[in-house]
Amino acid sequence: MGGGVSYHERTAYRRGGLGGGFLDWNTRPEIFKTYQGLPTVVLPELDDLQRVSRPFFKMLWEPVRSVPDRLDLKTLSRMLTLTYGITAQSGRGADAFFFRSVPSAGALYPCELYVAVQGIVDLEDGLYHYDLARYGLVRLRSGRFLSSKARWAAAFFVTTLFFRSSWKYRDRAYRYCLLDAGHLVENALLVLHSDGIKACVWDRFQDKELNAFLGVDSQREVCVAVIAFSHEVSAEEAETTGFVSEEFRLLEKSHTWDLVQPEACRLSVSDKVPSSILEAHRATESMEASGTAKADEPHEAAKAQGDQEKTRKIPRPKVVPESLSFEESVWRRRSQRNYVSAHVSRQIWQTLWHSLHLDKALCDGVEIFIACGEAEDLPAGLYAWKAASQEARTIFSGDFRRASAHACLDQGWLRHALFHVAYVVDWKRVFGTHGPRGYRSALLDAGRLGQRLYLASTALGMGCCGIGAYYDDELRTVFRLGSGWDVVYLTASGPVKKLRS
Ligand SMILES: Cc1cc2nc3c(=O)[nH]c(=O)nc-3n(C[C@H](O)[C@H](O)[C@H](O)COP(=O)(O)O)c2cc1C
Repeated sequence: MGGGVSYHERTAYRRGGLGGGFLDWNTRPEIFKTYQGLPTVVLPELDDLQRVSRPFFKMLWEPVRSVPDRLDLKTLSRMLTLTYGITAQSGRGADAFFFRSVPSAGALYPCELYVAVQGIVDLEDGLYHYDLARYGLVRLRSGRFLSSKARWAAAFFVTTLFFRSSWKYRDRAYRYCLLDAGHLVENALLVLHSDGIKACVWDRFQDKELNAFLGVDSQREVCVAVIAFSHEVSAEEAETTGFVSEEFRLLEKSHTWDLVQPEACRLSVSDKVPSSILEAHRATESMEASGTAKADEPHEAAKAQGDQEKTRKIPRPKVVPESLSFEESVWRRRSQRNYVSAHVSRQIWQTLWHSLHLDKALCDGVEIFIACGEAEDLPAGLYAWKAASQEARTIFSGDFRRASAHACLDQGWLRHALFHVAYVVDWKRVFGTHGPRGYRSALLDAGRLGQRLYLASTALGMGCCGIGAYYDDELRTVFRLGSGWDVVYLTASGPVKKLRS
């Protein structure tokens, strides 16, 4: 199977095998990327970020297509701030820490965001880096780089700086870089969706060409996903998950791009990226599928043999529950760990479960398993959930949350979270259909689903927390997965004592 799986196996946590490790504070990575002396456009002040607009679930399921005729700097600024802006601060002065609109393993924020724009009012055509600390756009290149003929067009590029995460998580960090990037990708797509814009998303491109265009030092920073949108994206275009959307292909394919201040990618005096990460990234470059898993092949996690397998249809509730608006949900989202046992109505959990669906998955190999406590019309159990077909398959009845919390490095608070949502992957299917590159797609999709759960939970007044720290084999056993299957991420969700505002 693909190089991604051997990386995944090699970076599995095993009980007794963690060995403590230590953090070298002398090599602590810079948390914000800084370019020196390049022209910077200060983003306009925004006053309506938390505007109370439509409830989150109406935004999600009853979209209004309202592509603006003109896209101005203020609108772009709002998009960027909601996508990856600073939403909270703890401490002051030298101790200040800034939280963002998306979660990040260990709050290390390995991702950076770039945007190529053309035809935007008040902004010169070009490629920019989103400098979220200084609230500006740093111009890296001037000109039109997208082949789109639309009145205006833009593309977001999500990159990851390996060392930000590997400083703490060592070899396992590549997983977190991709999961974090998935959160960011989905947040961006939801921001655009909330503005009535249909965007294309893809993670299949020529690494070398794209990293060169972004001007980054690809031994340290790499692009993992692109999101593009324009005044007129044809429906067909927006549905494409193909190689690279023609409309947004970089104009000057054969151009040799200069690096842009590669030293900006240096994060500390010693920022050596583990070779296992660079190798895993290279090994997942190929997009050639092995073809061993045909599209019509059953891909159920059928190896998860249950004692009482039965499938139940759970349609999406007709009435959308009272909820925060999308903007409020993004702004208030935080990782919560103070779970309590509390009653949850059928409408609430069904709404939550239905939010676990990607409109355009990067790969179709990520499945959702849920270990839950009891809720209205929902016995405690282990379920396989498919929002697309509205099917919940009971694998086992009983409460598996204690076992799951135990497998998650004994993070004891987890056992009180009503839902443990595991993102599980059938590697054979992923590589058969998507080639080694499928490893990246699967982890990106898992992060994307996690972001939806975070926001949906927040909108419903519940808590959520991503869990990347777990003993891989133990969690696989808890979720009854057969060989060739893995849990790649888990998010906990449920009622909490009180939401911080
Ligand atoms: C991929 C990923 C893995 C995470 N793993 C854990 C975890 O194992 N335990 C935990 O308590 N929090 C975990 N978190 C939550 C982060 O600690 C949290 O996002 C970060 O501290 C920033 O805080 P915020 O989410 O409140 O903005 C994870 C988050 C992500 C995105």
